[in-house]
Amino acid sequence: MKKRFISIITLMFLATITSSAFAGGKCPQPRKTKAAPANIAKMDKTGSADSENGKSIYLKKAKPMACKVCHGKNGDGTGKLGKALKPSPRNFACSDTMSHVSAGQMFYIIKKGSPGTGMVGHKKSLKDKEIWDVVKYIRSTWVK
Ligand code: HEC
Repeated sequence: MKKRFISIITLMFLATITSSAFAGGKCPQPRKTKAAPANIAKMDKTGSADSENGKSIYLKKAKPMACKVCHGKNGDGTGKLGKALKPSPRNFACSDTMSHVSAGQMFYIIKKGSPGTGMVGHKKSLKDKEIWDVVKYIRSTWVK
């Protein structure tokens, strides 16, 4: 009985992994994330932000884990952990989807998180300035 239970769990686990393994990198990509309040969505403080600092936050410094673990080192949503998530992490390289995502929208979600998804808020670990730095890095590197 116990063995059977374990194999059912294993099968369910494998099904989750394989069914979502091909979901990353999808474009256009559906969005589960809600819209930021309008006054924040239209903010943009990337002008004076530091993209190099944003890069190190994205690739390693962010807590509890680096953005690339989910969003991928190429920003396409296919990071190691990202592949197992539903919904998939945002594919920043997908212009069809990103044309609806402003700098202010990104700032708000990075700060507050996106309930019902794997995207956690970073308001305790990143200062506003650092969030704008990472928004600038993402937008100047991948968003066309
Ligand atoms: C545990 C995995 C994970 C980590 C780590 C992670 N994200 Fe996300 N992120 C997600 C998921 C899942 C979504 C929601 C996708 C959706 O809306 O369908 C998301 C959404 C977003 C969005 C929302 C864009 C929109 O559509 O409005 C932004 C911006 C973002 N992430 C940036 C970041 C940044 C910057 C970091 C690092 C500081 C980070 N994420 C870390 C999984 C992650």
